[in-house]
Amino acid sequence: MTGLNKKSIEDIEVGGKRVLVRCDFNVPISGGVISDDKRIVESLPTIKYLLSKGAKVVLCSHLGRPKGEFNMKYSLAPVATRLSELLGIPVAMAKDVIGEDAQAKAAALKDGEVLLIENVRFHAEEEKNDKTFAKALASLAEIYVNDAFGTAHRAHASTAGVAEFLPAVCGYLIQKEISIMGGALENPKRPFTAILGGAKVSDKIGVIKSLLDKVDILVIGGGMAYTFVKALGGNVGDSICEHDKFDLAKELVYKAITKGVRIMLPIDTVVADQFAADAKASLTPTYSIPEGLQGMDIGPNTIEIFSNAIKSSATVIWNGPMGVFEFENFAKGTEAIAKAVAESGAVSIIGGGDSAAAVEKLGFADKMTHISTGGGASLEFLEGLELPGIACLQDK
Ligand code: 3PG
Repeated sequence: MTGLNKKSIEDIEVGGKRVLVRCDFNVPISGGVISDDKRIVESLPTIKYLLSKGAKVVLCSHLGRPKGEFNMKYSLAPVATRLSELLGIPVAMAKDVIGEDAQAKAAALKDGEVLLIENVRFHAEEEKNDKTFAKALASLAEIYVNDAFGTAHRAHASTAGVAEFLPAVCGYLIQKEISIMGGALENPKRPFTAILGGAKVSDKIGVIKSLLDKVDILVIGGGMAYTFVKALGGNVGDSICEHDKFDLAKELVYKAITKGVRIMLPIDTVVADQFAADAKASLTPTYSIPEGLQGMDIGPNTIEIFSNAIKSSATVIWNGPMGVFEFENFAKGTEAIAKAVAESGAVSIIGGGDSAAAVEKLGFADKMTHISTGGGASLEFLEGLELPGIACLQDK
């Protein structure tokens, strides 16, 4: 899906209209301070366009998982403050979602003004995609714009249900994410390499299966590599390992071989005797990790082999860290892969979540073609699944 066959904000008359925009403002906040505002920044083109056309903009989002209850720890107020700084205009904040305050503030909006309502997940009905709740949200506006790519894989009231009650179109962020990732999948420059990491194979089965039909090289690192290594007869000591996924791992390796996909697993591993930031590290071959030790990162020989494969690629998609990168001593593999992708000159697409955070933290963000704002959403998209937050929008 390269060209998104859905109407966008440019296909609908928004001037003077009240427009409900679903953003993904689920950003890391600690003590009221936003540590990564990428998702807010990425929402600006859509908001600015609507304001420039004289729309009255009502923004909504979730933040965290407040389990259907009002909990000010999950308030979007810090987002309103940051958004106001970025837009250079006041952003009003409603005290509730569909209550009196939100309704009054939405009704009072003038052309070119912005309101952010509270966290939609303060209502349990949001995640249940409850019709009455979706209708109440819809009553705040005359047009619905979904631009929350990061939440487009959820069929919730604010991401999908509301589209039943209003003309529904997408924003620029959803358009950008789909056109870049869809373009790479449909018509990749070759060699096309996928690098998959993270703890569990079970989280990535669908995406591995789907990518095996498209890529030339599949690099597997992170915790999930140990399930493959053990399934193929290696000893992985106390490393994370999904014993019920051995047959699946073998099936995936077999599929790679029959498709002519070069599948690459780690050959050496940095191990530790405990899962701790200050654990003593040593190096072993990945196929013979002694009992009592667990894999924490890919080793230097693996880094070299993986990096060479990446540097020979013309398109690279990366999702999932190579090791326990949140512990400095075990971040070298993830850092080296980020560097290899950044220096590869390839079209480089970073799935959201941990790999996006690693690339940002290590300062390689500017060198990548695209860093997705969606973790789960980008995985489901790469898997070829239909995203409910996009499927619900009006066709062109
Ligand atoms: C994310 O951060 O992946 C999205 O905002 C979705 O959040 P969720 O996993 O809580 O639905």
